[in-house]
Amino acid sequence: MTIDVVTIFPRMFFPVLDESIIKRAKAKGLVKINVHDLRKFSQGKHKKVDAPAYGSGGMVFRPEPFFTAVEEILGEPVRSRPKSQALRRVILFSPQGRRLDQKSVKKFLKYEQLILLAPRYEGVDERVHKYLADEEISIGDYVLSGGELAAMVFIDCLTRLIPGVVSDSESVKNESFENNLLDFPHYTRPENFRGLKVPEVLLSGNHKKIKEWRLKQAVEITKKKRPDLLK
Ligand code: ADE
Repeated sequence: MTIDVVTIFPRMFFPVLDESIIKRAKAKGLVKINVHDLRKFSQGKHKKVDAPAYGSGGMVFRPEPFFTAVEEILGEPVRSRPKSQALRRVILFSPQGRRLDQKSVKKFLKYEQLILLAPRYEGVDERVHKYLADEEISIGDYVLSGGELAAMVFIDCLTRLIPGVVSDSESVKNESFENNLLDFPHYTRPENFRGLKVPEVLLSGNHKKIKEWRLKQAVEITKKKRPDLLK
């Protein structure tokens, strides 16, 4: 999978993309991530990417730099591109978008290329929303100062689901939100920490019982912390 990010702050991405699981996934060739500076696609001497809103209001991101960026990345004009090309998706990050959750993240695994547009929150010309983006994503009902962190959240939760990125021992199969359940409790050494003991069943070596206990705990924890998931 190739992920292209378009942003005015490319440097914000490097610390996140060059560590841990994402770094490993890139090194293994399982994902290729290109970060593009939006200003490079802006015409004019001053490389301006925004302008005052028509009517009234503050500054708004202009459409051309985003359209040009996507065209250069794809190597073809946007107009000739059927809006939803089967294996490519242009995603705009905005608080108006569809709220991201584990189920919707998985749907993006089928694409060969994702182009992520991460504007600042000040606002983007409506033509980018309507005619360039295939979809809009929000990472939650709050306002960030820009789409950069949202794009990084998206890249992180998607990359770890790409087959081969996370090893079997760290499996992504038994974790929170699978089967609409939160994760079960985990314990490690020591057995007795300041008088706080590890549940007996986990020391029993009885795998069937351990499995049953974990499921029961996951259901109880979900009931208590996120009853909405069980509805
Ligand atoms: N840009 C500003 N706020 C955002 C949010 N909650 N999700 C995605 N992009 C955003």
